[in-house]
Amino acid sequence: MLKSAVITGMGMYVPEQVVTNDDLATVMDTSDEWIQERTGIKERRYGKRNEESPVSFAKHASEQAIAEAGIDKNEIDFIIFATLSSDYFFPGCGVLLQRELGITNTEIGALDVRNQCSGFVYALSVADQFIKTGMYKKILVVGSEMHSMGLDFSTRGRGVTVIFGDGAGAAIVEPTEDEGRGILSTHLHSNGEGAEQLCMINPGAHGGRYDDVDYGYPETRFGSTFITQKMLDNGLNYPYMNGQAVFKMAVRKFPEVIGEALAQNELSTSDIDIFVPHQANLRISQFVQKVLKLNDDQVVNNIQKYGNTTAASIPIALCEAWKDGRINKGDLVCLAAFGSGFTWASALIRW
Ligand code: UT7
Repeated sequence: MLKSAVITGMGMYVPEQVVTNDDLATVMDTSDEWIQERTGIKERRYGKRNEESPVSFAKHASEQAIAEAGIDKNEIDFIIFATLSSDYFFPGCGVLLQRELGITNTEIGALDVRNQCSGFVYALSVADQFIKTGMYKKILVVGSEMHSMGLDFSTRGRGVTVIFGDGAGAAIVEPTEDEGRGILSTHLHSNGEGAEQLCMINPGAHGGRYDDVDYGYPETRFGSTFITQKMLDNGLNYPYMNGQAVFKMAVRKFPEVIGEALAQNELSTSDIDIFVPHQANLRISQFVQKVLKLNDDQVVNNIQKYGNTTAASIPIALCEAWKDGRINKGDLVCLAAFGSGFTWASALIRW
């Protein structure tokens, strides 16, 4: 029989440096009022340059998760690392985390997942499949981001910059013998038609083939470069988001993908004990809460403190809720995310 996968330990890390909305208003034309009203965010954390990175955040979160699961780091047989702000263009963060944790076992694999806001649910789904087939027994699943390294802090970037924050969350996923427990199902979706609605396309190897923008690439075939002066001059090296388009899709897709997960398991919204949405915007989470008819205690919201930490947002929120005693054995936990790609996903877990 296929084994179910359970989360046996979790950890989280956010850097110490708090950046308030008022702090941002000192460098760009924005206000605490605008940010709170549109997003619910009060503050976020930024890592320290030269000292911290997504991999260093992930190390802290992973060490906690490993300790909570009561395993030895060298028992981990697979690492799955979800991020959009990787330390290097290549290699991926998975191998860097392996090194940073001091895991000397080279029999293990390390995989990077690039699914942005839904990255953690995608990563968890991959872990679930490997546990079910018996291929791996102790998988470290991480979501980590250091957005503050690559945001436009001028007024030009305010629609994107004020939303994002840094941090990491980690989980250890193992098989269980307990009937009925564990990840019940995961549901993954994508629609590449929305790729440029929320993206950071440079540096990349697209070479300008998707649009008519002059990126300033050299004419000669031997003058290759990922970054041009023109990109830097025009802010084409920063993330772009069509906020309203993303918002409209998110409020449709969240309920849809949650409904799909419930239907597959012959459950209904009233069976959900706790809902952990990707922390994209408090208004999106409140809209979904209303559709699901959940009360405030059943929904985890921490975007007020951390902003949107993309792939890290669900594991941070899940970890906080778990450490606060809001999730107990036997609870039905619902995770859902929507974001860049577009990609969206859900997972139901019997804790
Ligand atoms: O996690 C990945 C998925 N991402 C999301 O789910 C994000 C979804 N979208 C959103 O959360 C919202 O669209 C935003 C919070 C990004 C923006 O809120 P909005 O209510 O959609 O605002 P808007 O983009 O329509 O902008 C309204 C106005 C504009 O000014 P005008 O044209 O009306 O004069 C913007 O220029 O607000 C202006 N604006 C700002 N003003 C002060 C945009 N950003 C800011 C800012 N401070 N930071």
